[in-house]
Amino acid sequence: MTGSPQRGAAPAASGEGAPSLSLEQAIRTRRTHKVYGPEPVDPETVRELVELARWAPNHHLTEPWRFRVLGPRALQALKDASPADAAGKLDRAPTLIVASVVEDPDPRVALEDRDATAAAVYGLLLAAHARGLAAYWRTPAVLLEPAGRAAAGVPEGEQVLGLIHLGPLRQEVRTPDRRAVAEILEFLA
Ligand SMILES: Cc1cc2nc3c(=O)[nH]c(=O)nc-3n(C[C@H](O)[C@H](O)[C@H](O)COP(=O)(O)O)c2cc1C
Repeated sequence: MTGSPQRGAAPAASGEGAPSLSLEQAIRTRRTHKVYGPEPVDPETVRELVELARWAPNHHLTEPWRFRVLGPRALQALKDASPADAAGKLDRAPTLIVASVVEDPDPRVALEDRDATAAAVYGLLLAAHARGLAAYWRTPAVLLEPAGRAAAGVPEGEQVLGLIHLGPLRQEVRTPDRRAVAEILEFLA
């Protein structure tokens, strides 16, 4: 599949104020961003994003998602735990949030809880986008290692889903094409 120019209107770039996108616009125009302005996202906005994320569907109402915003000390510890060529990438965004799931002892529940947490992360990304923020769901290998987990305060019994990058929007990005609906949808007899 080839790329194509961004379709649909991008939201205001400030990251402040009430969301101005319709749900459909937000779903369609959310993108993965790797360039950000330098100002951290304020804690109140982060709280709003997590408040929305927690409304994700969740079969057993275990509310298994956990979010940890890296402060300067945690960020430095994570850089120290990273290979030299990867540490610099942790400076891309001014706000980094580790998303994890509390592992249920029942493997079937654990699977569903991970799915639910992925849905929560998506909700957070959409809410950030609707506020004009840039975001990126990244899965750096260091967060699967004990040293990276420790740096990010992830305890035993949690699985990391990713490192959510957040910050002011600085540039538009290309929209990767999606398959045609006819290729992925079947109506069965
Ligand atoms: C679970 C998950 C993990 C991801 N990890 C990475 C990553 O480590 N590096 C990366 O460049 N993109 C990562 N992405 C972002 C995808 O590359 C991106 O969503 C995809 O290219 C489609 O672009 P879009 O988000 O703008 O639609 C991840 C996405 C998901 C859902």
